Amino acid sequence: MVEVLTDYQLVSDRAAGIIADQIRATPRGVIGFATGGTPIGAYDRLVALHRTQGLDFSTLTTFNLDEYVGLSPDHPQSYHSFMWQHLFGHVNIRASHAHILSGLAHDVDHACTEWEHRIEASGGIDLQILGIGSNGHIAFNEPGSSLTSRTRVVELAERTVQDNARFFDRPDKVPRTAVTMGIGTILEARCLLLMATGDHKAHAVAAALEGPITPDVPASALQRHTNVHVLLDSAAASQLSSV
Ligand code: GLP
Repeated sequence: MVEVLTDYQLVSDRAAGIIADQIRATPRGVIGFATGGTPIGAYDRLVALHRTQGLDFSTLTTFNLDEYVGLSPDHPQSYHSFMWQHLFGHVNIRASHAHILSGLAHDVDHACTEWEHRIEASGGIDLQILGIGSNGHIAFNEPGSSLTSRTRVVELAERTVQDNARFFDRPDKVPRTAVTMGIGTILEARCLLLMATGDHKAHAVAAALEGPITPDVPASALQRHTNVHVLLDSAAASQLSSV
């Protein structure tokens, strides 16, 4: 289902509403969280719902999509820091239930296999939140990724490094590799919630939703999933032919 709302605020409100409904319906459930600029507004609203309505995170399990290789959890630009700064630090989640891939694993292959087992042991992800890169990536699955890929180490595309440089003091500080859930891993979530806002995402959104299913556009793999909710603002939807 594709829903187009006028602006970022409305997309954020709607996303937070969907996530909150999921948490209320299945308090012991499993949510997959994403990072990036896009979900920040939705996370702010979840924090507000926790404060004003007691939205309860205490029995929830979470898995994050990805992490930069080489950044320690307390590095300000790590995705660990991002999640604690924008969401986990302000709600009653149990730290031991909030899983984020390590960027410092000694045996990365083992850590990736363990990660997959941990998701399986938790019963699988009920709702996976996703953003989309301007090059069509999901998580850090860059163009060329196998559509059945699993959790692994990947090299970041030049465009992703440039896009994400805004979060770092200097462009040369952006890590060149990351550990990410694979496209196959993501597609196993029972429901996917993709958010995209801004005209810089319009091309990737149109290619993902209306183009051929191809590793050149990793997000096009979402067409293979039967339960995808897409939330767009008008700018991100502007290149879709049918909405
Ligand atoms: C990063 C993340 C993705 C995210 C994408 C879009 O590279 N690994 O999970 O979807 O960027 O980010 P933004 O929301 O900042 O545009």
